[in-house]
This record gives sequence, C-alpha cells and structure tokens, in this order.
Amino acid sequence: EKGGYDYFMLKEIVEQPRAVADTLLGRAGLDGTLTLDEMRLSPEDLRDVTKIVIIACGTSYHAGLIAKYAIEHWCRIPCEVEVASEFRYRDPILDPTTLVIAISQSGESMDTLMAVRYAREQRSRVLAICNVNGSTIPREADGVLYTHAGPEVGVAATKTFLTQLVACYLIGLYLAQVRGYKYGDEINAVIAQLAAMPDKVERVLDTVEPVRELARSLADAHCVLFLGRHVGYPVALEGALKLKELAYMHAEAFAAGELKHGPIALIEQDLPVVVVVPSREGRSVLHDKIVSNIQEIRARGARTIVIAEEGDDTVAPFADTLISIPRVPTLLQPVVASVPLQVFACELALAKGNDVDQPRNLAKSVTVE
Ligand code: M6R
Repeated sequence: EKGGYDYFMLKEIVEQPRAVADTLLGRAGLDGTLTLDEMRLSPEDLRDVTKIVIIACGTSYHAGLIAKYAIEHWCRIPCEVEVASEFRYRDPILDPTTLVIAISQSGESMDTLMAVRYAREQRSRVLAICNVNGSTIPREADGVLYTHAGPEVGVAATKTFLTQLVACYLIGLYLAQVRGYKYGDEINAVIAQLAAMPDKVERVLDTVEPVRELARSLADAHCVLFLGRHVGYPVALEGALKLKELAYMHAEAFAAGELKHGPIALIEQDLPVVVVVPSREGRSVLHDKIVSNIQEIRARGARTIVIAEEGDDTVAPFADTLISIPRVPTLLQPVVASVPLQVFACELALAKGNDVDQPRNLAKSVTVE
C-alpha cells in the first residue's frame, strides 16, 4: 500500500502534483471559466456576502490564513481567520450575510464541527472544504467543496494541505467572478496559472535532494526558526508545525517584520533560520524588506536557509543554503514553497529515528474538543 515507500508520508508528498491536478479537474478551465456548481451555494447566496470567517485547526488553519490574503485581494470582502477552538467562546459577530468557511481534511475535527454548529445557529451560511466524502462537517454545512487528494494516512497533512490551498483559491476566484471584480486580468491569469501548478510542484520534488541532506545535517539542532512575510508567513507557520509534530523539535515562526520587536534576541551563532522569500512579482517592497531581514539575522550569526524563486540572485549572497522554487504568482507561492518544508521536516524526523506516519501523542483526526 505504501507504493514502495517506507512511510505513507513519503508517498503522500510525492503524490502532490496529482492531488493538485485532481482538485482542479473539471473546475478551472484554461479560458478562465470556473465550474463550482457542486458547492450547493447559488451565485445569489454568494452575492450577498459581506464578511467571510474562516475556521479551522492546525494545518487547515494555515491554509485559511493564506486564503485570507487571496480572498481579500481578489474579492475585497473582509475575511477573518480563527482557530476553531477559540471561535465560539468569544461571542463572535455573525449574521446571515457572513459566509463561514470551515476547512477540515477529515471533516471530523470536533473543534471545527462545534464552530460550524455554532455558526449555523447564528444563521450564517457555512461552506466546508473537506477531503473525506460524506464526513460530518460537510454533512452539516450548507455547501461543500471537496479536495480530491485521495486518502491521507500519515498523521501530518501534506497533500491535503496543498489541495486545501487550491480549493481556497477556487472559492476566492469564483466569489470574485460572481460579485464582479476589480482585478479582472489578474483573475483570469491566476486561473490559467493554477493549471500549471501540478508541473511546478513536480519540479520542486525533482530538486529536493539538497533539502534532504540539509535536514540530516541538522538532526541535532535544538531549535529552528522560520520567517516569512505576506503569504510566506503562514508558510513559515506550517513549516514550524511540521517540524514540531514530526521531529519533536522546538520550532517557531514569525512574521519577519516582527523580528525587531523581540524575536531577534533569540538569534545566536549557528541557529538555523528558514526564510521564505516572497516572489518579486508586484511586491518588490516586501522582497527588499526580507532581504534586509536576512542580512540582519546573518550578521548575528544565524545559519540562513533561504527559500526563494528561481533566478532571485539578490538573496544568494546572504544564504548559507539556497532552496530555489519555481516562479509563480505571489498568492500561489505557498503551493510550491511549502513542499521543501514538508520534505525538510520529514527527513529530519527520519534522521532522528521517528515514525513520521504516527508521531507520538497525535491522532489523524481529533474527535474530542
Ligand atoms: O482534519 P483536520 O483538517 O480538521 O485536522 C486539523 C488538524 O488536526 C491537522 O491539520 C493537524 O494539525 C495535522 N496533523 C498537521 O499536520
């Protein structure tokens, strides 16, 4: 069943190009058309939306954080993201014009399910993004967009994360189209670019061997920090979560701009710091800022591991290790930037002798609150 791999996780990482392609299949046309009728929410339902609230846990929450950047940019609808376990206990403001998007791979996370029930009691519409057909959350939601990642056995979410991102993009682009959008050309270009994502992910997978070597060389590190800006920030959070859950290592992620507000005091000689560099497309200010962040931490002794798009020669002089990823539009970059971080965490955990499919203290689906 493991298809020749020692662990399901290794197989599931490699399956990602197919998982992404299957999630796009029949939904996004190269001509810019989107077909999401299966969602059970009519264009009328979506036209009335005044606010979006995304609720999820763990890796699914990180997909939600990335979705916020895309949805607010493309649709100009305010979008909040919250961990499901906090949501209903703080008296959130919900009404019938709020669209709640619940992201859950399993469709069974109790925290998310309880948040869904709460939102429906407040008469908000709930749209689920889910990988398991007929599971509880999509059954109780008003609509659902399934990710087509296939069964994921490893406790760590990998291919389901990438497909959740794709589902979020599809919903954001669809909402933009249904409601009339500001960035028409960009929207059509992004839809076309989505079709190219399976190949781009494949390219990342073809070039990750140096990431494996790097991970093995860091098996004795005590801590790894992750930095990002814009959508690279949730990517950094996800990289840190993977390292905690698989390698049982202290890992923390920061928005790179927050460094100077405290975390920079953590930097010491040889501390590994992974930096996710935003693409240069359209957001060069952010790019320049992160280059100076890399210089700042390197001057204080950090061992810099830099993930940047191919051809980005401005970062190379400050990178102890440079991991190149294909060039894609900024908002889609998490799809390619997350993959080296999955490989990094998996390989580091294996080097420590851990079971990456069944990390200690964890369950694939968390059915208690
Ligand atoms: O099934 P769900 O997406 O609702 O699960 C949420 C989290 O429990 C899950 O993403 C968890 O964080 C993963 N093990 C992370 O790899």
